[in-house]
Amino acid sequence: MHFIPEELDTYVVKHSQKEPELLQQLTRETYQKILQPRMLSGPYQGRVLSMLSKLVNPKNILEIGTYTGYSALCLAEGMQNNGALHTIDINEELEDFQRKYFNLSPYGNKIHQHIGDATKIIDSINLTFDLVFIDADKPNYSNYFELIINKMNPGGIILSDNVLWSGKVIQKIKKDDITTKALLDYNKLLVEDERVETVLLPIRDGLTISRVTSI
Ligand SMILES: C[S@@+](CC[C@H](N)C(=O)[O-])C[C@H]1O[C@@H](n2cnc3c(N)ncnc32)[C@H](O)[C@@H]1O
Repeated sequence: MHFIPEELDTYVVKHSQKEPELLQQLTRETYQKILQPRMLSGPYQGRVLSMLSKLVNPKNILEIGTYTGYSALCLAEGMQNNGALHTIDINEELEDFQRKYFNLSPYGNKIHQHIGDATKIIDSINLTFDLVFIDADKPNYSNYFELIINKMNPGGIILSDNVLWSGKVIQKIKKDDITTKALLDYNKLLVEDERVETVLLPIRDGLTISRVTSI
């Protein structure tokens, strides 16, 4: 969905950093071989994630929702040399695809894959994080927030994707639409919770930046 006119959107992309060749290759292969390729972050949001990660320069990064590894590779671009990126996905069929591209990048040995339900895995990763990207099942966003908030370093950044849910957050909710309801609750939680400072950016499907104040 385009939240700004398509022509302006094209101009924005054209005047932003170009997508690295490896990510173009990953995108092509995702479209050829993997279901639901629209789940990819895509070139513009990918460059935003890369830029934010470079600004934060995190040691430890956590990603919830790896898919084919696109956003993990973007976030890894800003990671410290001695850093680590832990990424979780419930779909074990994606593991080899992700590893192939992680190994083709300069970050292969710093990216750790976890396969399974993120609600069960997060606690077992014995680290604190400077940067977290939440991009998995939307009904669990608030649960993910509660699971990670005590693992965040002060000043750490939590990024949450798809928070505008194609604009459904301002439309009348259908009775059985648990996803929109969950995102409305999550967006409210982020803006009201005093442990974070939050700005929702109307980038792509909505990307929230929350900075951890005190724990
Ligand atoms: C939108 S895709 C992630 C896209 C990826 N971050 C990117 O930008 O390229 C969401 C992913 O979350 C995974 N997922 C869904 N429920 C999950 C859960 N409970 N725990 C871990 N991963 C989950 C799905 O298998 C899917 O690959």
